[in-house]
Amino acid sequence: MQNTSAWLQKYDLPVPRYTSYPAAPHFTSEFGPDAFSGELARIEERSPLSLYVHVPFCRSLCWYCGCNMKVANNTATMMAYAAAVQREIELAATHIAARHKVESIHFGGGTPTWGPRAGREAVTRAIRTQFDVAPDAEFSVEADPRTLDGEIADELAALGVNRVSIGVQDFDTPVQEAINRIQPFSVVERGVKELRRAGLRDLNIDLIYGLPLQTPETVARTIELAIGLAPQRIALFGYAHVPWMKKHQKLVERLPLPDAAQRLALFTAAQDTLTAHGFVQIGIDHFAAPDDKMARAAAEGTLNRNFQGYTTDTSPALLGFGASAISALSTSYAQNDPGIDSYMDAVGNGRLATVRGRHLTGEDVRRREIIMNLMCNARCTVGSDLAAQAAPALAPLLADGLCRWENGQDLAMTDEGKPWVRVVAACFDSYHAPGAARHARAV
Ligand SMILES: C[S@@+](CC[C@H](N)C(=O)[O-])C[C@H]1O[C@@H](n2cnc3c(N)ncnc32)[C@H](O)[C@@H]1O
Ligand code: SF4
Repeated sequence: MQNTSAWLQKYDLPVPRYTSYPAAPHFTSEFGPDAFSGELARIEERSPLSLYVHVPFCRSLCWYCGCNMKVANNTATMMAYAAAVQREIELAATHIAARHKVESIHFGGGTPTWGPRAGREAVTRAIRTQFDVAPDAEFSVEADPRTLDGEIADELAALGVNRVSIGVQDFDTPVQEAINRIQPFSVVERGVKELRRAGLRDLNIDLIYGLPLQTPETVARTIELAIGLAPQRIALFGYAHVPWMKKHQKLVERLPLPDAAQRLALFTAAQDTLTAHGFVQIGIDHFAAPDDKMARAAAEGTLNRNFQGYTTDTSPALLGFGASAISALSTSYAQNDPGIDSYMDAVGNGRLATVRGRHLTGEDVRRREIIMNLMCNARCTVGSDLAAQAAPALAPLLADGLCRWENGQDLAMTDEGKPWVRVVAACFDSYHAPGAARHARAV
């Protein structure tokens, strides 16, 4: 790794996370409800669907939070939102030609386990009424362990949930204080026990590296504690510090943030600990037990990436419901109004809440294939025309050994280059203007 410090100087650039291509900042407001309803009508009759429901409410604010969320404690507000989501599901179904099978459901947030049980029940009922949920469908929910008790665990099991992602971030008390997320290990352990007792066996744990006060030692200790809870998957997100978009993140700056070299050291400490315990690295930020479905998908080259990160879901159409939710169809993206009130107004008036999106050209689809293959498999096959266009941007990365051509048209990341895969992917992004779009850093 003698190249690392030179690479950090050259390549720690703001680049998209490529949960979509084109990245969300390149969606345009010309794509509205009419464009989206046309796209819904074109979904192929037999196409299975994947559904995402965004629930933006949380009990309190974590200072690092980059999600579309709002602190809320009012049951009536949360129930009104659930009714709007229910209405949106019904509306979308009227635009879709056939009754579709659903292979995967994900409730994300915010904190979908926060707020009244009746809201989650209403939304799940609407889904089951409008679509045929496959008996083996994955139904996953994000949960905050601070508000996860036995009652909620039983409720999730009764709803048909079969995977829970638990937000942990870091177990070190000073780090937790620095980010306003006080959550002792015993709280997480109790939540995990309740989920297992209720029969929920598939658990993911979310962690973040790049936070104030983290050291390679504290991060390794957090990983050890997380592994002790026996999750099937661990997501290790690089802290995305974007205070120009999320003003409350300024509070995290009260203590110094690790620089690029320190971030890489934190990631490496976490990665070493996870792999020493047999976890397999998946893409840029996920780790899975070797017998987990995601590890198998990665080995078989069937891993996918969407707005929730890496997924084993292979449905060609993802429908997003709720404020800010994004739908990803085979040749378009559509994003809902991120404002909770304006989203509810639109849906309440019987309109789809689409405010931005994009139709993909044939070239966009080819570039998306390349970028998603790089992000999922660390390699891709590139046609000669796109290779020629990317050549000037790729040249220094090839010369420095971050990636290499194999048999003329297959581009592969080297092992040392893998942390910079987003920089290589950006060479194929015809929308990305270096330095213009304000993304989080590459490493
Ligand atoms: C919607 S939250 C998970 C559920 C629940 N709200 C919680 O926090 O426990 C999704 C995950 O996004 C990650 N996250 C949030 N803000 C982030 C940021 N600025 N950078 C990186 N990851 C972030 C955290 O790991 C968090 O667990
Ligand atoms: S990290 Fe989770 S609990 Fe904390 S504010 Fe964000 S969405 Fe809410």
